[in-house]
Parts: sequence; structure tokens; C-alpha cells
Amino acid sequence: MNAAITQPATVSVIPVRRDMHFNLPVERAKNWHGQGTQVSHFFNALSLMFPAGERYFMDAVRHYRDRIDDPVLKKQVLGFIGQEAMHSREHVEYNELLQEHGLPTRKLDRQMWAVTGWMKRVLPHWMQLAHTVAVEHYTAMLAGLMLDDPVCLEGSEEGYRQVWLWHSLEETEHKAVSFDVWEAVIKPGPARYLMRVGVFLLTTLTFWPVVFLLHTQLIRSDRYADHRVRGMWRVIKFLYGPRHGVFPRIAGQWLGFFRPGFHPWDHDNRHHLSRIEGIVAANSERRTLSIAHTDAG
Ligand SMILES: [Fe+2]
Ligand SMILES: [Fe+2]
Repeated sequence: MNAAITQPATVSVIPVRRDMHFNLPVERAKNWHGQGTQVSHFFNALSLMFPAGERYFMDAVRHYRDRIDDPVLKKQVLGFIGQEAMHSREHVEYNELLQEHGLPTRKLDRQMWAVTGWMKRVLPHWMQLAHTVAVEHYTAMLAGLMLDDPVCLEGSEEGYRQVWLWHSLEETEHKAVSFDVWEAVIKPGPARYLMRVGVFLLTTLTFWPVVFLLHTQLIRSDRYADHRVRGMWRVIKFLYGPRHGVFPRIAGQWLGFFRPGFHPWDHDNRHHLSRIEGIVAANSERRTLSIAHTDAG
């Protein structure tokens, strides 16, 4: 891990809304990851959570926007909302590619909207914001992992690799925004700490079962998925493997959330953000090439 501990006050990243489009070949939608279908479907399950989930985060933060006085944080909130809107739009298109293969992504998406709609109706606004802070910490941990370790997406189809890198970079760029809103609008004190970590624990108990349910639905609906046992072994290695496994490597940052003085930029991985312009350039070239190709065809 090549990130350093820093003082949060020294970090002021303004997220930028980028109107990106990616070239995602439909024929690879079910099997784009270098580790095969079942690992592809792990990421596809995350993708299924985004359209409804990111709208929920945007609304949770938007609710408190008028209570923010700091002009920098106001700009960060605007960038956060803009980025999540773009992620949501691109993942709607991504999920539609899976539907074209006969996977029930529209049905699963409707279920996700029903769940987040219900949460918006029954949960108090502070809890929706704390939930957003918690899931944003999860996405920041997973995004940081993908950026730190090229093995995570090694051998993957390039368009899908690019969309996940773009999303990871922007999740990193805005990783502190909902947290800073939380700190700005919720009264400081022990209650605020307990609310933050309590909701984080609840989120941990619900986040992975939802991913697991979506993942198993996709695998069950995909009759061409890898041989069940071999494919499942690859997923287990991908998630729990001692060298490149997801869980062993996010454990430290997961625990870090419980420190009373925690801030997302304690894990300062800003050095990755210089890669964004490369992704933007690569995908505008890619788009120009595919438009030229279509015109020529
Ligand atoms: Fe996002
Ligand atoms: Fe996010």
C-alpha cells in the first residue's frame, strides 16, 4: 500500500463532472473480466446496484445542500452529484447489455429502486446521509484497490476495464464529500460518532448480502457461466485470496472507519487522480474511432 497518512484539512479535491461514454462490446458483457464469467458477474452485480444506489446517495446529500455554508464544500457537492449522475447513466447502459443476453437486469434494477424508494420513505434523513457515508467508504475502498493493483482488472476487455477505472477514479476523487457534508450538518459529539459507526456496521451487514444475492441471480440466469465449481473457486480467490483478495486488503481501511477522528483522506491516494486525463483522452479517441468506423460502414 503506497498511500500516506495526511491531515484531512490539507486535502481539497474538487470533483469534476465528466460526460463520458465507453465502448462496451455487447458480446463480452457476460464475460469481460480476465478471471471469467463468475468474476465478471461479481462486478456486474455491483453495476446493478449503481443506478438506484447512486440516485439515493445524490438525494441524501442534496437534502442537506442548503445547510452548507463553506463555498468549497458547496462546489464539491455539485461535483459529487454530477459525477454520480454520470455513473448512474453509464451503468444503466451497461446493465442493458446484460439484459440483451437474457439476464434479468431490468427486473433486478426495479427491485433495487423499490428497496431504495422504501428506505427513502422510512429512514430519517440523517440515517440516509450516514448510509451514504458508509457506502461511499465501501466504494472508496474497492475503488482504491482497483487503482492500486492492476491485477484486479488484468486480462479484461478494454472497454469494461476503462469504465471500471473511470468509476474508481471518480469515486476516489469524491470519496470525502458525503463525509464532509455529514461533519458540517450533524452536531458534533459522541452521538454523531455512534450514529456514523452504527450505520456503518448495519451497512456492512446488508451490503454484502445484497451483492451476493444479485451475483447469484446473475450466475443462475447465465447458463453459459463458467463451470460452477471452478468459477466459484475463482470468485472465492478473488474475494478472499491472501495475496490479491479483496477482503484481506480492505480490512485495515474498514477498521479505520471506527477511529473517532477518521477522515476518508487519511488514506491519501490522490496520486491516482493524475490518471483521469488519460482515461478521458483514451475514451474520446475511442469514441471518435468508433463513430468514424460506423460512418465508413
Ligand atoms: Fe459512483
Ligand atoms: Fe460515489
